[in-house]
Amino acid sequence: MSDFLHRYFLNNHSKRCHKWLHYFDIYERHFDRFRGKSPTVLEIGVHGGGSLEMWKAYFGPGSRILGIDINEKCKQHESEGIEVFIGSQDDPDLIESVFQQHPKIDVVIDDGSHEIPHQIASFQLLYSRLDPSGLYLVEDVYHSYHERRGGGIGRDGTFIDMVKHKIDELNAAHTRGDLPISDFTRSTDSICCYDSVVVFERRPQGLRQAVATRAM
Ligand SMILES: C[S@@+](CC[C@H](N)C(=O)[O-])C[C@H]1O[C@@H](n2cnc3c(N)ncnc32)[C@H](O)[C@@H]1O
Repeated sequence: MSDFLHRYFLNNHSKRCHKWLHYFDIYERHFDRFRGKSPTVLEIGVHGGGSLEMWKAYFGPGSRILGIDINEKCKQHESEGIEVFIGSQDDPDLIESVFQQHPKIDVVIDDGSHEIPHQIASFQLLYSRLDPSGLYLVEDVYHSYHERRGGGIGRDGTFIDMVKHKIDELNAAHTRGDLPISDFTRSTDSICCYDSVVVFERRPQGLRQAVATRAM
């Protein structure tokens, strides 16, 4: 696994970039397959613009990096291959205009408001429209455990609560019809949960085969 991002972050003397250090191994593990393949990457939450530059350097010259931020000043962080959309991450019209201009999005990183309703709304607006081999990563999901943010252990309606239901949905074929096989079931390969980060990886799903073999 490369340590490009970790090194880039620690040696960054350019624009402000704000990340938890343990996220870098997670990025490297899941983003590697997109490197050098000219992906379109959307990050929700631009702030100082440093992360957009970091993604550009990591994903390579052919990549297109899109940012969404509610703060109009973030428009200043646009440059060659980096485009910023201004508006709220839960605004369907904004998301529609992003897809109008960029129909194929490979990677989404939600580092926006971190408010639970925003995390859920963005996921619902974006996930099913990503490339069939795309990836959706949500940062700082610990808000789902903070009471002042509407969270709490086992509490209904949090982002983590939604993830738990999505784990059931991913396994719908094994519920003997109790859960319908949904578009999510058909299009999702994995859900990886880390401390404060959840990663959904898309891949068209086919028939399951349980095969037994034995030695000759
Ligand atoms: C944590 S900062 C982003 C940090 C940046 N990704 C980085 O790594 O340095 C969060 C950003 O989300 C933006 N934000 C807050 N509420 C938002 C919303 N509803 N929609 C879009 N962006 C929002 C803030 O203006 C802020 O710039």
